[in-house]
Amino acid sequence: MERVLIAYYSFEGHTEKIAEEIASRIRQNGGEADLLRIRVKKEPPHAGMGKFMVGGWMALTQKDPGILNEEIDLDSYDRIFLGMPVWAGNAPGAIAAFIRKTHPQGKDFYLFAVSGGGDDKKTLSKTINNLQGNHVIKTISLQQGGLTDVLDAFVDAPVSQDLLADVQKYIDENYEDFEAEEATEPEEAAEVINAAREAMPLRDAAPSAARPREAMPTGFARSQETVYAEHASYAGSAPAAFELDEGFSELLFQLIDERGWKDADCYKKANVSKQVFSNIRSNPQYLPSKTTVLALAIALELDLDETKKLLERAGYAISHSSLADVIVEYFIIHKRYNIFEINQTLFEHDQKILGSK
Ligand SMILES: Cc1cc2nc3c(=O)[nH]c(=O)nc-3n(C[C@H](O)[C@H](O)[C@H](O)COP(=O)(O)O)c2cc1C
Repeated sequence: MERVLIAYYSFEGHTEKIAEEIASRIRQNGGEADLLRIRVKKEPPHAGMGKFMVGGWMALTQKDPGILNEEIDLDSYDRIFLGMPVWAGNAPGAIAAFIRKTHPQGKDFYLFAVSGGGDDKKTLSKTINNLQGNHVIKTISLQQGGLTDVLDAFVDAPVSQDLLADVQKYIDENYEDFEAEEATEPEEAAEVINAAREAMPLRDAAPSAARPREAMPTGFARSQETVYAEHASYAGSAPAAFELDEGFSELLFQLIDERGWKDADCYKKANVSKQVFSNIRSNPQYLPSKTTVLALAIALELDLDETKKLLERAGYAISHSSLADVIVEYFIIHKRYNIFEINQTLFEHDQKILGSK
């Protein structure tokens, strides 16, 4: 599990809020995030014009405000986020003082600046200069109280070349690309049908035992009945939830309950939209797309056998003639359940990403 430090200086709380949002996204992605508020001896007055005059002057002259935090060991972190407000177009002196005190070397930095709407180019560029000997991977400029959706992409770590090379090795050993041509067309058609199904408003959200189960188009996936019949052979060997002869949605919600999660814990971690998730919740006959089921399996950290069983309940299977399936299989076998890492790897291979946003 990756360890991330989010260090920030915040005078009036806006940068702190962003730091907390970053931490919660990293935790959602399965990482460990420590927040560190940089505390200083000298600050401008909190009210009146003195705030801007003194603070602006302190930032322009880069006065060292005196760091109060005790020793901070940066070496135990894989990535460091460093956040700052914009003061007179600059970073407050606390940021450079923090860098001097901790003296990072060879670390991966992600810088975020929070302004009142003004220019912050110098804020970030001067901080990058102060971080020589490290790698500044990404920077982001935000406005106080503004939208924070951009943070999703900001917090993602780029997939390492080593990981991509390892995935490639797995693909070379397992991908049966000689079948690819025949396999692509029905796969794509199934995706179109399922995407349309996901987009469709539900006509009858209430569960109804009398209503016949909707059959999947022949050739693309099997009907739910077939899946149920085949599933009987798993009884006995599978853990708790898998032993019961249930449909896709019943199994999914049982797995969520077993983990003591709320629905939101699951769909957020899976990168699945609330709408698609509530379709699954409200209509037991609703069948999500394969990429949605795989995303949910990743969020639930199922092993390969369990993933195959969950897929089967929705009428799908993992195939070695699908490049995307081989890639996802690699991550499941290696217990790397970070959906963003998987999606970046799928994207590198021009494959459809998991989830349904
Ligand atoms: C001393 C001082 C100087 C500031 N200078 C700028 C500025 O040059 N440009 C700007 O857009 N906002 C400026 N602001 C507004 C802050 O950048 C903005 O309110 C920021 O979100 C504050 O972050 P914080 O709440 O974490 O301290 C200034 C605020 C202070 C207190």
